[in-house]
Amino acid sequence: MNNYKNKIIGPFTQLLTMDNLPLKGSLCDSQLKTVHQGGIVVCNGKIAAVGEFNQLCSDFRNSSWIEYVENQMVVIPGLIDPHTHICWAGSRANDYSLRLAGKNYLEIAQDGGGIDSTVSHTRDATIAELEALLMERVLKHLKNGVTTTEVKSGYCLNILGEIKLLEVIGKVNQTHFVDLIPTCLAAHIKPSDFPGSQSDYLENIVCELLPIVKKLALADRIDIYIDDGAFSVDEARKYLLKAKSIGFDLVIHAEQFTKGGVSLACELGVLSVDHLEIVEDKEIKLLAASDVIPIVLPGASLGLGCRFASARKLLDSGCSLAIGSDWNPGSAPMGDLLVQTALLGIFEKMTIAESLAGITFRAANALSLKDRGVLKNGFIADMIGFPTSDYRDILYQQGSLKPSKVWKRGEIANDK
Ligand code: NIG
Ligand code: FE
Repeated sequence: MNNYKNKIIGPFTQLLTMDNLPLKGSLCDSQLKTVHQGGIVVCNGKIAAVGEFNQLCSDFRNSSWIEYVENQMVVIPGLIDPHTHICWAGSRANDYSLRLAGKNYLEIAQDGGGIDSTVSHTRDATIAELEALLMERVLKHLKNGVTTTEVKSGYCLNILGEIKLLEVIGKVNQTHFVDLIPTCLAAHIKPSDFPGSQSDYLENIVCELLPIVKKLALADRIDIYIDDGAFSVDEARKYLLKAKSIGFDLVIHAEQFTKGGVSLACELGVLSVDHLEIVEDKEIKLLAASDVIPIVLPGASLGLGCRFASARKLLDSGCSLAIGSDWNPGSAPMGDLLVQTALLGIFEKMTIAESLAGITFRAANALSLKDRGVLKNGFIADMIGFPTSDYRDILYQQGSLKPSKVWKRGEIANDK
């Protein structure tokens, strides 16, 4: 221990701030601001200064100690995953082998696999088991550079079970370095044991669950899955309006297989609309004219063998674009955000700036987080260092170059 107020971390071969970039539209790599031989001053978990290492050492010499990094290192903001379902128990390897043998996602669900099968395993799991499973996944995310991750409930689909999942997420958030942002996805599907209609199920959630979630402050956000086999646009509209009146932020799973969710998202002005594998020009225009942030999920395309969402078109039309892993046991079991981002980028012809923006400050905005995703004064000191001298290697190596150092609020959280 020492008595200095600040810590200077560096020198970094390249420091990529992701600062001063627009929230919406396409980006060129030449817009990226890099500091060569850079350093970061950290005070109480926040960034106090960013600049040239030698200059910082002289400016802050009386108040700081220095944490030196290895020879070659590129530092960027910690990654932010704005869409996951990582609080689950059980395996869906059987679904996967059926899919490889030619069955599709909806057929497998109708045959007793799918979300319902994860629901029965997750309902049976104890709180301690779920905590351990979630912790393991959060740790894997941290090793891969993810310092903030959204986590949805949605695998118990009854009142007590959904509370159990949100409490587990809250508990792991308190005990782990990584920040978890909980979202209530009780409107994932109507579970097979619910006796009434889809509308009855949603009404039950609104009356019985959401007031408790609000009262216990278990989540500020709610999500609904709009699709065949999940909920219709009209059912979702009613549900979302009621949730909004209780005070929740809204997000939607839309246009993975069925159209309609994006126009509803724009009509209601939700925070983000996620998936978009089948989104078309008309809806892209609506999105571009709105503040709704599209979140694309390449992990679901890779898991299901479907096309990627049209990221290039979304960006060229003036939309923002965040990228999530969708990590879940069914459609997206991989859970490696950087690999998925690199693969999306090569198929959709995204610049390195656009890809990195999608998993840093644009993802932060999709979660309404205004204090991270950029390396600049006042922001949380969440940073990841890669053992290279060229930031382009992060995507050029297609996710196989892993961070050798991860800092959470200025503290080393992972060191290889
Ligand atoms: O975002 N599409 C709906 N929900 C999840 C999949 C959940 C599951 O298959 O368990 C998704 O892909
Ligand atoms: Fe999802």
